[in-house]
Amino acid sequence: MTVRQLHFGSLRLESRYLLAPLAGYTNMAFRLAVRELGGLGLATTELVNARALLSNSKKTKEYIDTCPGDQPLAVQIFGADPQEMAAAAQWLEEYGASAIDINMGCPVHKVVRQGAGSALLCNAGAAAKLVRAVVEAVRLPVTVKMRLGWDDANHTAPQCAREFEQAGVAAVIVHGRTREQGFSGKVNHAGIRAVVEAVHRIPVIGNGDVRTVAEAQQMFEATGCAGISIGRGALLNPWIFRQLCRWEATGDPGPGLDYDARLTFMARHFHLLLQQRGERHACLTFRKSASWHCRVLKPGKEIQQRLVMIASAADFDAIVDQLRAQGPPPRWHHQPLPELAVPQGPISHW
Ligand SMILES: Cc1cc2nc3c(=O)[nH]c(=O)nc-3n(C[C@H](O)[C@H](O)[C@H](O)COP(=O)(O)O)c2cc1C
Repeated sequence: MTVRQLHFGSLRLESRYLLAPLAGYTNMAFRLAVRELGGLGLATTELVNARALLSNSKKTKEYIDTCPGDQPLAVQIFGADPQEMAAAAQWLEEYGASAIDINMGCPVHKVVRQGAGSALLCNAGAAAKLVRAVVEAVRLPVTVKMRLGWDDANHTAPQCAREFEQAGVAAVIVHGRTREQGFSGKVNHAGIRAVVEAVHRIPVIGNGDVRTVAEAQQMFEATGCAGISIGRGALLNPWIFRQLCRWEATGDPGPGLDYDARLTFMARHFHLLLQQRGERHACLTFRKSASWHCRVLKPGKEIQQRLVMIASAADFDAIVDQLRAQGPPPRWHHQPLPELAVPQGPISHW
């Protein structure tokens, strides 16, 4: 199967399809489970605080846990201080990251109030200075993941992307929403296109609201992007990367979602967590993802309750056996993929 590759500087990606960072979800176990299905070009860790990384925070180190099978892997850092960001990037180069991704999209108050995340889009000059410091500190490719800007009156992403290109980034990834939008409304394809048109050489990766091959095709056509980054869609449909590669190579994405295979994927995700983190931590970490698995599997209220409160591997395996024996709910194979859920609560509390 021949699929188009993508280059982030010296890093060759086997496909143009990336797993977007989702804090709390796209940990090593999830990434490995998705990689096993095929088609993934690059995965990225969730955002980690550059300062916390440098001060040896145990929790921060857990966020970037990886293993030889978890390659290529970009590590995403956030911060507002160029020296700190550069030092964190150097540390990560030693650590074995394949690329450094700088977060300029996070809308959360505790991040933007430090001048980091999407706040950096408010000052293209300062943001470019920070990017240049990171690029000059490492041999690894450096990318920036950004939103369109702070709000609709300030779509600064095209100008920022142009300056970041001059500062030496290998690619930019654009979530087609503003900070003010959070996750509301639809992704703005024209906004992503404006970034594609603003840069000269580097690939622009489109991001936002892609769950299916048809939605990916729309993203390519409407934006002219070079690749696509998928977050929540991969929680619903982890086969999306393989389907996209097959579609690209043959025009046919292959078989749709299969109940037993989806159940096996959930079990694989849990067992990889178990291997990595031990029973207690695996159960606690899995609880967060359980509701996404349930949105697809539709196991009924009682089992959903047990999965989101899972406390032991034995209980988990018993639930999987029960679901497998019982089979999918009526008409499961005829239902469209569920809509994407958005984080709950006011933006200031994310
Ligand atoms: C729960 C959650 C956590 C996220 N965490 C991160 C993160 O750590 N870093 C980042 O750059 N974006 C983060 N994002 C944004 C996603 O990477 C992505 O840009 C956004 O969800 C839109 O893409 P999607 O529709 O494919 O999910 C997060 C989004 C969600 C919903």
